[in-house]
Amino acid sequence: MARLLHLSDLHAVAVNMRASELLDSNALLRTAIDALSERLPAIGPIDAVLVTGDISDDGSADSYAIARAELSRLGLPIFVIPGNHDRRAALREAFADTTPMPDDGPLDWVADVAGTRIVGLDTLVEGQGGGKLRARSLDHLAQALAQSKDQSVVIALHHPPLRTGIRFMDAIGLENAEALEGILRRHGGPLRVLAGHVHGVYHAMLGGHPVVTAPSTCSAFAFDRRREAPVGFMLGPLGFAVLDTAPGGVWTACPLAMGDGPYGF
Ligand SMILES: [Fe+2]
Repeated sequence: MARLLHLSDLHAVAVNMRASELLDSNALLRTAIDALSERLPAIGPIDAVLVTGDISDDGSADSYAIARAELSRLGLPIFVIPGNHDRRAALREAFADTTPMPDDGPLDWVADVAGTRIVGLDTLVEGQGGGKLRARSLDHLAQALAQSKDQSVVIALHHPPLRTGIRFMDAIGLENAEALEGILRRHGGPLRVLAGHVHGVYHAMLGGHPVVTAPSTCSAFAFDRRREAPVGFMLGPLGFAVLDTAPGGVWTACPLAMGDGPYGF
């Protein structure tokens, strides 16, 4: 059984810059790591931290150095996959020593952590918001699943294979979720898909397996499905998620800011 800390969409920026010219995402990341450091003892020992993309907002080397330094404060193995804001070369440069990435091509990888097989899939199409899974990534997944025996499997990708109903996010979703579904449907063992991108908590099923998305550490999107919904981000709620991969284990999303308490019943 593995216990994973699932973070997403950090959107780190170069020094003194702000995401979308407004958001001090580096300070928000620092605050999030401070809060996590305080709360992890209550959650229990964690085997690794898994970040489902948009580690950087601007793709700069500085932003990756900042994100890496903040994440390292948790003292855990770090696994990352790229999101639409990331740049492969800079991401690889900053994280290749902790995530088993290939030297070139899509940043697909597989890692066995405490008996659980984690498969990282690269959906990034540099220069565009939407994502897709290339044939090479799908082959990588099929092979990783075929060799997984009876292990629990976690698939991590940035663009979730689900539709939130938020129009401006669905417009930049995963192009070929059906290709992923075909592979998942053939896999009978325990498997979960973890994603990010939508800066909020969503759950769906794909090929008989659950798909969940984690909140972001820096911003959120209103659950507004109207055609005229304003396009933009909210300053919260912010959060993180935790997954226990044991049979019957939960994936749960936690807000970073808690209310006061606990008060007696
Ligand atoms: Fe994002």
